[in-house]
Amino acid sequence: MAKYRIAWMPGDGIGNDVMEAARLVLDSMQFDAEYLHGDIGWEFWCKEGDALPRRTIDLLGDVDAALFGAITSKPKEEAHAELASELRDKGLTYQSPIVRLRQTFDLATNLRPCKAYPGNPLNYREDIDLVVFRENTEDLYVGVEYHPVPESLSEELTKHPRWARFIEKNELEDIAVSLRINTRNGCRNIVRAAFEYAKQFGYPTVTVVEKPNVVRETSGLMVRTAREVAAEYPGIELWETNIDAMCMWLVKNPQNYGVLVASNMFGDIVSDLCAQLVGGLGFASSGNIGEKLAVFEPTHGSAPKYAGQYKTNPTAMLLTAKLMLDWLGETEEAERLENAVAETIVAGEVRTYDMGGSHSTIELAQAVADRLV
Ligand code: NAI
Ligand code: MG
Repeated sequence: MAKYRIAWMPGDGIGNDVMEAARLVLDSMQFDAEYLHGDIGWEFWCKEGDALPRRTIDLLGDVDAALFGAITSKPKEEAHAELASELRDKGLTYQSPIVRLRQTFDLATNLRPCKAYPGNPLNYREDIDLVVFRENTEDLYVGVEYHPVPESLSEELTKHPRWARFIEKNELEDIAVSLRINTRNGCRNIVRAAFEYAKQFGYPTVTVVEKPNVVRETSGLMVRTAREVAAEYPGIELWETNIDAMCMWLVKNPQNYGVLVASNMFGDIVSDLCAQLVGGLGFASSGNIGEKLAVFEPTHGSAPKYAGQYKTNPTAMLLTAKLMLDWLGETEEAERLENAVAETIVAGEVRTYDMGGSHSTIELAQAVADRLV
């Protein structure tokens, strides 16, 4: 019997290309795993009305970890139009399966390292080493949304002085409301994960990225909680910045920052910026980590225009596999994999299009694999 049971979920588009690359590399390391395929993605929404079928949720309840490629999500009208005809008008609504996975399995910590590997021609600077901790289950992405606004909600909101301005000028059917919901526990857990990481890996600061001067309650809760947690870590300084200013500072002086922590949407925004500083989405790995399950995925999406062409960069996916190895406690193997990726980058002989080369996804993975046997 293999040592680990790993759920294998390529999903849509280039998710398939980069997962094939990851498999090639994991096999060359002789990583001792049984891979169990999980259905997920647009195809299953169209055919079954569910992008995350029940059987996949059951599978995830019975594995050590999961690797996931990418999914395609489309807006409401297109989602309805592409549904199999017999499923239309059944009131089905599409929800991103990765968002559902995060919520179903309480994968509250989203870890997104962005390191400039020496010799990567796409590095913004060579001395960048950022790690974003993004809260993964709360905030504006919870999906508690209304359009049109129900009478009962409007009645409740009428108690708030700022609501009047909207109903004076608009019909309820012309107003959309999305709730931003954050909890003290959610804030505390993500900030604590960030501080623990800073402590373990010797980062001197943790920067909380929010907007408490404007979004006073939800962002305020995050910052107030961050201050409480920071008091438990005397050697590590808490820096507080606003999301907009942070985007400016990250372009100006990214080398000054280390661990960043943010609520779900601001963390989403800032992590794409961080990814671009170290080569773009082709280099950005991530883990969705809960207490019982962790699902590892590259930050990028399904990049439909490149699907099946084996052109995109598998590095993000390979570094994602490295995060999984770390999480499984295979830290030496994780380091071996990261070193092979770093050596391949600095050697510069095999490069995908984004790095100015013309090698394929599989050729780059093979170059990494050759350093691992
Ligand atoms: P995307 O990340 O799929 O691609 C944007 C662009 O980034 C690509 O066109 C390509 O130029 C570049 N890129 C992405 N991955 C790359 C790689 N490995 N190597 C080199 N270049 C790479 O984002 P987009 O176009 O906004 O979304 C496409 C679909 O993916 C949408 O349906 C979206 O909903 C979905 N998506 C899924 C995510 C997930 O599975 N977690 C995350 C983000 C988007
Ligand atoms: Mg994103």
